Amino acid sequence: MKTLVKNGMIVSPEDTYEADVLIEDGVIECIGKNLEAKFGDADKVIDAKGKYVLPGGIDVHTHMDIDVGIARAVDDFYTGTVAAACGGTTTIVDHMGFGPAGCPLHHQLDVYHGLADDKAVIDYGFHGVVQHVDESILNELETMMDDGVQSTKVYMTYGYKIDDDGILEVLKKMKELHGITAFHCENHYVVEHLKKEYGDAGKTAPIYHAKSRPNLAEAEAVRRVLYLAKLAGDAPVYIVHLSCKESLEAVEEARRNGQKNIFVETCTQYLTLTEDRYKYPDGVKYIMSPPLRTQQDLDALWKGLEVGEIQIVATDHCPFNYAKEKQDGKDDFRKCPNGAPGVEERMILLFSEGVMKNKISINKLVEVACTNPAKVYGMYPKKGIIEPGADGDLVIIDADAKQTLTHKMMHGAVDYTSYEGTDLHGKIDLVMQRGNIIAENNEFKGNRGDGKYLYRKPFLGDL
Ligand code: URP
Ligand code: ZN
Ligand code: ZN
Repeated sequence: MKTLVKNGMIVSPEDTYEADVLIEDGVIECIGKNLEAKFGDADKVIDAKGKYVLPGGIDVHTHMDIDVGIARAVDDFYTGTVAAACGGTTTIVDHMGFGPAGCPLHHQLDVYHGLADDKAVIDYGFHGVVQHVDESILNELETMMDDGVQSTKVYMTYGYKIDDDGILEVLKKMKELHGITAFHCENHYVVEHLKKEYGDAGKTAPIYHAKSRPNLAEAEAVRRVLYLAKLAGDAPVYIVHLSCKESLEAVEEARRNGQKNIFVETCTQYLTLTEDRYKYPDGVKYIMSPPLRTQQDLDALWKGLEVGEIQIVATDHCPFNYAKEKQDGKDDFRKCPNGAPGVEERMILLFSEGVMKNKISINKLVEVACTNPAKVYGMYPKKGIIEPGADGDLVIIDADAKQTLTHKMMHGAVDYTSYEGTDLHGKIDLVMQRGNIIAENNEFKGNRGDGKYLYRKPFLGDL
């Protein structure tokens, strides 16, 4: 099966140029001018004249079907990946949820294969999750690598938070294995103290969710984990959903002091929404951790992207219905399941809010939403780039189209979008995975179970 995408503006982190792309049996065969003359026998020809052609988006922070104890995310691996596909994301790496206390790492890997294998419509991988640290877990990190799980997450807060000695042990082991350790950074004791203080004072409206998780509670944990990674010999450390200026300053300082192997992710919501949302009547929609911040933080994050201090934009897609699960937090933020949707909105928001508003270049968009995620998480150059030999995962964007983002356009199972009413400059015309059209004009065209599990490779170098 041959598919030819002709006359598009191909985008890589370094370059934007007009060319044709020929995909044969799912893989990019060649890129060049006038390929139609040479390969006129393609089974399908798509004219992308005047449009951008990007590598398929990669969202390395989602939580499909996650059980968070008080609720279960409403997107499973079918609805969530349909939403991703329609939004221009052709690969996810999902953060697996906690299993029973004391379970081995493979317990969750087995559970998640069961949740995803017959459902995912796009390619997918999993991040491991460390719930406790002992010799057996440390040994298992190696067998997880053999099973394609090159990364693992450590929470510094929540029920299964890991203390500093455990963090150090995991960092050392993962460095030895050429794996990536991802951290949810918040100072657990500060957050619990503030939650109690506000709760005891009857301050339980959604805004107190933000007040109980201040910038410094995040920045302290970021600083601590960076020190621990340095102690572990510059072990690779990946900060998930970094949300504020002070955390970014900690990262910049560590890098200035020569520390290597630091990778930083922020998410669409931290670039586009402020904590004012908690004061809206539907403020519970935005209860997530870390919380939304201030305009000053947003500005710092855009700048951080532009100058390369932040490597990746993901979503932390973790949807709960506003009409149902989120209502548990209406009178008390502490009872609200944490998380919000976003997998479908990420690519077009980065394009419209970032590229079209001159905050980042189109090349930077590709770098942070496609190429760097593939590089850090062991999928490059199969994913994240338009080059011969890479998978034929493409997104075609019409920069001239205008639309308004509404929940009606969305494809996931959740009952709202955090970005309702946002004016968008640009539209995703077509999404292709391994040469097959999986979304066109906002209509899903793929198939349940067509997504492939990705055996991700060890992290062997710099970006
Ligand atoms: O509020 C959030 N972010 N929920 C999902 C779990 C996590 O912390 O990443
Ligand atoms: Zn988190
Ligand atoms: Zn998360």
